[in-house]
Amino acid sequence: MSQITNRRAFLQVVGAVTLGGIAPAPLLAQQSKLRVGLMLPYTGTYAALGTAITNGFKLAVDERKGRLGGREIEYFTVDDESEPAKAPENTHRLVQRDKVDVLVGTVHSGVLLGMVKIARESGTLLICPNAGAGDATGPMCAPNIFRTSFSNWQTTYPLGKVLADRGLKTAVFITWNYAAGKEMLAGFQEGFAKAGGKLVKELLLPFPQVEFQPLLTEAASIKPAAVVAFFAGGGAAKFLTDYAAAGLKGKIPLFGSGFLTDGVLDAAGAAAQDVETTLHYGDGLSTPRNNAFRAAYRKSYKNLEPDVYAVQGYDAGLLLAAGMDAVKGDVSRKKELIAAMERARIDSPRGAWTLSKAHNPIQDFYLRKVVGKENRVMGVAHKALADPAIGCSMK
Ligand code: PHB
Repeated sequence: MSQITNRRAFLQVVGAVTLGGIAPAPLLAQQSKLRVGLMLPYTGTYAALGTAITNGFKLAVDERKGRLGGREIEYFTVDDESEPAKAPENTHRLVQRDKVDVLVGTVHSGVLLGMVKIARESGTLLICPNAGAGDATGPMCAPNIFRTSFSNWQTTYPLGKVLADRGLKTAVFITWNYAAGKEMLAGFQEGFAKAGGKLVKELLLPFPQVEFQPLLTEAASIKPAAVVAFFAGGGAAKFLTDYAAAGLKGKIPLFGSGFLTDGVLDAAGAAAQDVETTLHYGDGLSTPRNNAFRAAYRKSYKNLEPDVYAVQGYDAGLLLAAGMDAVKGDVSRKKELIAAMERARIDSPRGAWTLSKAHNPIQDFYLRKVVGKENRVMGVAHKALADPAIGCSMK
C-alpha cells in the first residue's frame, strides 16, 4: 500500500483486487483462518471419547465445506490426558502461544474447570462438548462459556424416578471419586429421594482406577434393589464385564447415566445386555435427523458408529457455526457472536435443543436399554430438563 500515493490509485487497486475475487484489506483480515483449539483426551481411559468429539466437530465443519462464517478452519490440538493438574498450562498454551479464537474442550470435569478459569481470565470463547461439571454453568458461568453436552446433575436426576416407579426403592451408587461421579450421584440421590427411594450406600474409587472387585463384593453384601453407576470409556467396559463376572448380572439390576453403555457395546458384549440408563441421546433414536447424521458419520469415518460424544462434538460445531454465520466470520463482533449462539436452536441428532440462560442445553432425557449392539430408546424419562444453574449470574 505504501506505493499507492493517491486516493484514485488506491481505489483502482482495490477495485481490481475485488474484481479478481480477492477482498480488500479489512475483509482479508477477517478471512484469515479461524483458529480452533481442540483440548481433549487422546490417551487414557477417555481417549475414545476425545476422538469421537473431534470426529463429530470436524463432520459439522466438513458439512459446511470446511468453513464457518466464510472462514476456513485451522486446528490446534492438545492431548489433555484427563489430567486436571495440567489443565491451566495446556489451556494457556492454546490461548497464548497458538492464539486460538475458540477453545473446544473437554471430557473430564476437573480439566474443564481449569479451562474455564483461563477462559474467564482471557475472555476466549469456550465451547464444552462433554464435561458436565456443574460449576461451569453455575458459579463460574460467563458470557463466553458455552456447553453443548449436559450438566452431570441432568444425566441422573431423571433416573431416580425410573427406579422408584418400578418399586426399586433402595440403591447403591458406584463411581469414580471426582466431580463427575459425585455430581451424578447427587443428581440421582435427589431424584430418587423425591420419588420415595433411598440411596443406602456410596462406593467410590479414585479416577481412573478400575479395581472394582472389592466394591462389587460390598454392594452385593448390602443386597440393594438396584445398583447405579457412572463410569465411561475404557472404565465403563471393564465395570460391565466385572459386574457380570462377579455374578451380579441378573441378580441385582444395573442402571446408570448413559455413559456406562455408550461407545462400549463392542467391548462389553453380553455383559452390557439389558442395562438401562438415562441420557440425552440414544444411538437407536430413529428420527430422520439422527439417521442422516449416523449415515454421514459412518461414511466419513470408515463405518465407525457414532455415540453420544460424537453428537456433542458435532453440536459444538453447529453452535459455533450459528455464531460465526451471524457475524460473517468476524469474531471481533463478540457481543453479536455470543447473542447469536445464545438464541440458536440446535437441530441436533439427539433432538432439537436450546440453551438455558447459563449456557447449558435444555433437552429431553431418554430412558435407554441395551439390546444387542444398540442403546435402544424406550421412552422419555424427563422432557426439556434444564440444569438449576445454582450460583450462576451472567456478568
Ligand atoms: C466428566 O468428567 O464430566 C465426564 C466424563 C466422561 C463422561 C461424562 C462426564 O462420559
